[in-house]
Amino acid sequence: MSARDRPLRVAVLGAGTVGREVVRGLLEPQGDLVDRAPGIELVGVAARDLGKAMASGIAESLLTDGPAHLVASPESDMIVELMGGDEPAHTLIAAALSAGKAVVTANKHVIAHYGPELEAIARRTGAALRFEAAVGGGIPVLGPLATDLAANRFTHVRGIVNGTTNFMLSAMHERNQGYAGALADAQAAGYAEADPTADVEGIDAANKLAILARLAFGAWLDPDSIERVGITGISAEDIGGAAGAGRVLKLVAQAQAQAQVDGGAAEIGAVVAPTAVPATGSLGRVGGGNNRIELEGEPIGRVAFEGPGAGGRATSSAVLADVLALARGAGSTWGVLKPAGGLVRPGAMDLATPTRYPSGARYPEVD
Ligand code: HSE
Repeated sequence: MSARDRPLRVAVLGAGTVGREVVRGLLEPQGDLVDRAPGIELVGVAARDLGKAMASGIAESLLTDGPAHLVASPESDMIVELMGGDEPAHTLIAAALSAGKAVVTANKHVIAHYGPELEAIARRTGAALRFEAAVGGGIPVLGPLATDLAANRFTHVRGIVNGTTNFMLSAMHERNQGYAGALADAQAAGYAEADPTADVEGIDAANKLAILARLAFGAWLDPDSIERVGITGISAEDIGGAAGAGRVLKLVAQAQAQAQVDGGAAEIGAVVAPTAVPATGSLGRVGGGNNRIELEGEPIGRVAFEGPGAGGRATSSAVLADVLALARGAGSTWGVLKPAGGLVRPGAMDLATPTRYPSGARYPEVD
């Protein structure tokens, strides 16, 4: 039996918030909508806590606590990495691609930090790497950038790319909720990372901005060099001050391809910071765990993507779509875009900064 005649054998690494939903989706397919021939077969699920995974409904026969075993197994064709974090996720993805196995991941940290290495391995071995779920949760944005919008030269990307902080800031603005209660609710909703420091310090948003920049500008930005301010210092006074000026505070990620100098490569400016935006504007209206990504380029002008940006069910939509794309022979998320080189240090961005807020803090403004 050739590889194309038999079902695509998928192993899932991770049975947390997203992993559970992806396993559920793989086991209960919406078969009437999608032509899955020759089929997708779930062959294993690696979980850190086997008891918890079984309690969530995953059959014991599928479970293992050895993700490396699933990657190395001749019984798997594709690896879906949903463990999150740095190691062992990075090594397992690299090993799968090196062995010629396709990989789907939602891991924004690994894609942002090891993108150049993983892209090089995938291009060398011909194994596809898809990571739509790494940015914007369930919102399709990376795929469209590399396919339907591939003819554009983008100059600017900005957006709300972290569901946890948007949920928290929305609750603080709309219900006068305190910071700690808003964070606890975001964690209960399944939006926050295992360690929410990455959310509230803007680290997660910087990782996503680096991935967006790869697709929009063709360069991997060093995520750790992106200028970044989190939301931990935002006080109730500042929320009130913004409201008094018809604005709301949002954690906004922005990147801009600066003018080329002497024919050299365009410098890319990037920043993640709490930003005062008009309450009724395109970013100000984005509530709860939703995300919105806006891009400017030629010839299209402005284009935007908005929807559920975090949470297990929404994110599983993007992961499962990547699995289906691979089953029908699609390649990596960067599609027809040119190869990108190593990590590039981003520059700063000039932002309009109002002079005063009640707490003494200063927040940049965008319209
Ligand atoms: N913690 C992330 C967020 C999950 O809140 O956006 C989705 O990437």
